[in-house]
Amino acid sequence: MSVSGKKILIAVSGGIAAYKVHFLIRDFIKQGAEVQVIITPDAEHFVTKLSLATLSKKPVYSDFYDVNGTWNSHVELALWADVMVVAPCTANTLSKMIHGMCDNLVIATYMSAKCPVFIAPAMDLDMYAHPSTKRNLELAESYGHIIVPAENGELASGLIGQGRMAEPATILKVVNNYFSDHTIEKSLQGRTVLITAGPTYEAIDPVRFIGNHSSGKMGFSLAEEAAKRGAKVILISGPSSQVLTDKRIELHKVTSAKEMLAKVFEFYDRIDIGIASAAVADYAPKDVAKEKIKKNDENLTIELVKNPDILKTMGEKKTHQFLVGFALETQNEEENAKGKLEKKNLDMIVLNSLRDEGAGFKNDTNKIKIFTKTEKREFDLKSKDDVAKDILNFVESQLLK
Ligand code: C5P
Repeated sequence: MSVSGKKILIAVSGGIAAYKVHFLIRDFIKQGAEVQVIITPDAEHFVTKLSLATLSKKPVYSDFYDVNGTWNSHVELALWADVMVVAPCTANTLSKMIHGMCDNLVIATYMSAKCPVFIAPAMDLDMYAHPSTKRNLELAESYGHIIVPAENGELASGLIGQGRMAEPATILKVVNNYFSDHTIEKSLQGRTVLITAGPTYEAIDPVRFIGNHSSGKMGFSLAEEAAKRGAKVILISGPSSQVLTDKRIELHKVTSAKEMLAKVFEFYDRIDIGIASAAVADYAPKDVAKEKIKKNDENLTIELVKNPDILKTMGEKKTHQFLVGFALETQNEEENAKGKLEKKNLDMIVLNSLRDEGAGFKNDTNKIKIFTKTEKREFDLKSKDDVAKDILNFVESQLLK
């Protein structure tokens, strides 16, 4: 794992999201990183040094001097770190960082740091939307810092909006991406990859739809991995709660199969590789009711009509594109997968079986087999991030042929 063996300096400022930092520390430690925590004086109202020190396995500093007169060298702390993560970063701490208002240990350490700095802002929605915060975040980016944007949702004030600190898993992923980005070979540099992901929702009436359990995880993992390898990535996703951590990815959100098809063909001529991981609904209601359907009758019949097959259409219009499809089968798996490879004019198909525990739709893991017209490869059960690596390694090996 990328953060393994790395020295992570976590700076905590005084916001309610500070409670989440415990999980962040635990996750960094679990992945083999060394963690040093420093906090602003205000942060101690929200978390205790004891809990942070217990998790990080190191004393936590908040002052320039200890009671016994020892100096907590901000210079040493800053130079020790491979990366500094300010989480949560309040509007106040952000402003001090940007303007050099060096009145506590966190800011002095930040100003002495030469390593990459990650900022996970957290504040109430109006503070987050305030022009001064926006400007300070832009300035932070112009200093070369990496922002992990606040997320949408319920805030401590009870209001709902953007301002919640990104989840620890997201922050961890951004830091991990940073390290792997600096070690990974840019093997897809110069290639454009289009990926479809997630389910599609087919409207029945203004409030109901036909959908499926696809989470979009596999497609998002593929997009992140392709971007790390230097590809230009266009991700076309149906409704999914996945969060992208790589800003280089061009995300287009769609709802129905028809919208997905239209979006794909806005880009199709320009792409080198097309990967269809979306679980597209095969059928859609023939007519969408204009008003909410009332529950008057005992039975309700909805007439369905076949949706366009996006990948098949891509196959029919293929000129130079390398096309990868997915097959989720419950019976005659290999035969069916190979059939789809032919029928949809693909270069490669990834089979995942619902019979394998941990494989398929909603899970974080997947177990795949890959087929081309002449080859077959079987892989072990792995995280979807690792499966994405296997798939792209295979694609690259085919492109070199
Ligand atoms: O035919 P089947 O649905 O099993 O094929 C699965 C593959 O085709 C997946 O790669 C899926 O993304 C793609 N597909 C599509 N449009 C559809 C149905 C499937 O792109 N309407």
